[in-house]
Amino acid sequence: MTRLDIYSVRNLDAVRLHGLGRTCVLFGENGSGKTSVLEAIHMLSLARSFRASSARSVIRHGEAHCTVYGEVARAGGAVRGLGVQRDTSGMAMLKVAGRPVRNVSSLAAELPVLVINADSFQLLVGPPTGRRRFLDWGVFHVEHEFFAIWQRFQRCIKQRNALLRRDKLDADELAVWTRDLAQAGERLTACRRRYFEQLVPVFQEVATELLPECEAVSLRFRQGWDASLPYRDALAATAGTDREQGYTHVGPQRAEIVVTAGDHSAADTLSRGQQKLVVCALKLAQGQVLRRQERPMTCTYLIDDLPSELDAAHLRRVCEQLEALGAQVFITCIAEDAMAGTWPAAAVPPQLFHVEQGRVTPVGPAADPGTPTPSNTDSESDA
Ligand SMILES: Nc1ncnc2c1ncn2[C@@H]1O[C@H](COP(=O)(O)OP(=O)(O)O)[C@@H](O)[C@H]1O
Ligand SMILES: [Mg+2]
Repeated sequence: MTRLDIYSVRNLDAVRLHGLGRTCVLFGENGSGKTSVLEAIHMLSLARSFRASSARSVIRHGEAHCTVYGEVARAGGAVRGLGVQRDTSGMAMLKVAGRPVRNVSSLAAELPVLVINADSFQLLVGPPTGRRRFLDWGVFHVEHEFFAIWQRFQRCIKQRNALLRRDKLDADELAVWTRDLAQAGERLTACRRRYFEQLVPVFQEVATELLPECEAVSLRFRQGWDASLPYRDALAATAGTDREQGYTHVGPQRAEIVVTAGDHSAADTLSRGQQKLVVCALKLAQGQVLRRQERPMTCTYLIDDLPSELDAAHLRRVCEQLEALGAQVFITCIAEDAMAGTWPAAAVPPQLFHVEQGRVTPVGPAADPGTPTPSNTDSESDA
């Protein structure tokens, strides 16, 4: 992303940043608005914040809506504009290249965003939903038919569960939805498997770099039903219980990524800091997988308060990996010098931004706001 405009997001005053480079460090006191900037960027990808709060809470108090606009670089020096506006009623207006789009997936495809923050360890210790979402995020970006299959699967399972809960069972209708569910479930799982197979070796590499002192951390994929059976047969085998309890017991909705350190569950044995590093490795691996596609994609990393839980040596390793990825990275921290010496010396130094009571100000020559870019001419007058 080379340009970022934010209006009425939380405590932020109008933010207009141009000429954004690969690494942007936002520093400032507690409550200054650093996380809010990351939330705004996240909205450009998924139309919502990563904080577990309502869409409305992101909108600055007293305002009717918030708006975020960003420009991402495309091949040949072109830029593509992305826009998101959310209002207090929950409505979202999404635009790609000036045209309204209906699905968030159209935005997400333009700007793959990955978050690493204080809650990230939840990916390891929290419920499987988070790990399925993690997996599907990656699958979405590399398998182009995945979104349609996923939507189809969701529709089938909803219909089937609704039928299972009816007092009077319509066996024919159930058979039709069960057949469609079986097909969609197999296709969905095939996509997940293909992606997972790409992810594992990359994760292994990154994890070894980040946690050399740790017992080998490994990943296993569980598809959500007995892997020796076609999904159709697994559904047939649980048909009775499904009917009794009114929902579908087996399938991709139960898929899981099992993370182990040595012979033990990573969630139960690793320290919080190590868990955070495993999550970093998972997310860095996702970025690598996207980069290694035939049509390489670059991720944008939003890293909230990176220095907080990592010691200097581990912090440096994470930064090295981020730099090697070539991804764009937004990092927040409290002190101006918190990231000093952590970024590889050979790399282009990070751009610094001071966040103070809702104002975001570039600091130093690297982030000279006067640097002419094709896109800053239209808003200079109101800067
Ligand atoms: N909807 C809102 N309208 C106005 N201010 C808000 C809103 N939501 C949160 N805030 C305020 O925004 C400030 C910035 O929060 P945050 O971005 O999390 O700060 P930081 O990450 O720098 O610690 C907080 O002081 C909070 O009280
Ligand atoms: Mg914060």
